[in-house]
Amino acid sequence: MRQQKKPTNVSTKVPPGPLAQKWIARDEKVISPSYTRAYPLMVASAKGCVITDVDQNRFLDFTSGIAVTATGHCHPKVVRAIRAQAGRLIHMSGTDFYYTQQVSLAERLSGLAGGGRKVFLTNSGTESTEAAMKLARYATGRPYFISFMGGFHGRTFGALSLSASKAIHRKRFSPLLPGIIHAPYPNPYRPPKGVSKEACCDFALSWIRDQIFHFTSPEEIAAIFVEPIQGEGGYIVPPENFLSQLSDLAHEFGILLVVDEIQSGIGRTGKMFAYEHAGIDPDILLIAKGIASGLPLGAMVAKQELMTWESGAHANTFGGNPIACEAAMVTLDLVQNSLMQNAQKIGAFLLSRLREMQGRHCLIGDLRGQGLMIGIEMVRNQETKEPAVAERSRIIQRCFERGLLILGCGASTIRFAPPLVIKRAEAEEALATFEEVLTEVEGK
Ligand SMILES: Cc1ncc(COP(=O)(O)O)c(C=O)c1O
Repeated sequence: MRQQKKPTNVSTKVPPGPLAQKWIARDEKVISPSYTRAYPLMVASAKGCVITDVDQNRFLDFTSGIAVTATGHCHPKVVRAIRAQAGRLIHMSGTDFYYTQQVSLAERLSGLAGGGRKVFLTNSGTESTEAAMKLARYATGRPYFISFMGGFHGRTFGALSLSASKAIHRKRFSPLLPGIIHAPYPNPYRPPKGVSKEACCDFALSWIRDQIFHFTSPEEIAAIFVEPIQGEGGYIVPPENFLSQLSDLAHEFGILLVVDEIQSGIGRTGKMFAYEHAGIDPDILLIAKGIASGLPLGAMVAKQELMTWESGAHANTFGGNPIACEAAMVTLDLVQNSLMQNAQKIGAFLLSRLREMQGRHCLIGDLRGQGLMIGIEMVRNQETKEPAVAERSRIIQRCFERGLLILGCGASTIRFAPPLVIKRAEAEEALATFEEVLTEVEGK
């Protein structure tokens, strides 16, 4: 555990301290038990990559609040923009009225997505997905969707119907939306039985073609929803040519390609959007999480010719709130000017050091990632690749106790997703803690 240089009220060695315990007991009485708290962290404040809890314990944040705080916690320029806008206009509902912040942000997002786009502003990733499902049906007049096993697009009924990352998300909520086909996502570390890692991309694309040939006519499929790197499903990086081949397949049949950049976007992979690494041109782009440095904001960015829906077809009260839009404009400046380059640089450093570590630790089965979206898959056996589920939980818990915040994804993967402002010294500190904990959990 990192402690402040002059700790004020640290009374325990291992968090949670006494105040955190009290607050967590109160939380349990009033907060929905459906949340998935990883460990007993009761946050009081945060700055850059450092979080301070209510007992004045300090932690290095390698979660970014689930890949959100791209510019670090409370970046002074973001805070200044929020304060200034809060004194001018807090709300006027962009659905029924005009204000300049929405226009400026939409112009910016259209440009970043290649130009010639129109934007629907939302409050979350799920809502961006939902808007895209509705637009895709509206614009094409087609009923079906394709998404991927392991994919995650949100938790409302529509978005949840596309999602297939964990059964618990769906349990007792059926029937979900009909007309959704879940295709295999190419996972080079875990290709289907009898398929080589080199062939897993062809396998996935052939699977979709078979589906189209035998089961669902392509002219009935509105859109394919895909994450360029699967996030909640395990930070799975598909083979290099997957996205471009999927894009070709979609366009061959007039199917829209919806790229979900909710977790991978806003500089996290070293480019503004992860799809740029593949050189494709999505029909619809989904954004949320990192875009406003922590304020609730999302966007569905579609090619202009697709935005054919009429007034009243889709809207919301809070989407594109002026304060969130201002925070987003500053966030985009910071990410474009230097942070995505930093993500590339520190991401490469972390990955190379983790590769060295892999040689020393049998629990690390696979390492993958782009920029600061890094997945470390833990296995009990390098040959059988049996997921090290309990060990992964133990590592996350012990890292927390030692002052490093990390999160899991997939069955037994750990994600490294620090704020894009992370410095090399902080990366080194995290690596040292992580390796100490690995050694301990491996019982060396
Ligand atoms: C790729 C992806 N899409 C959609 C969502 C849903 O976003 P939100 O939780 O903001 O609704 C998430 C959240 O983790 C995500 O990672």
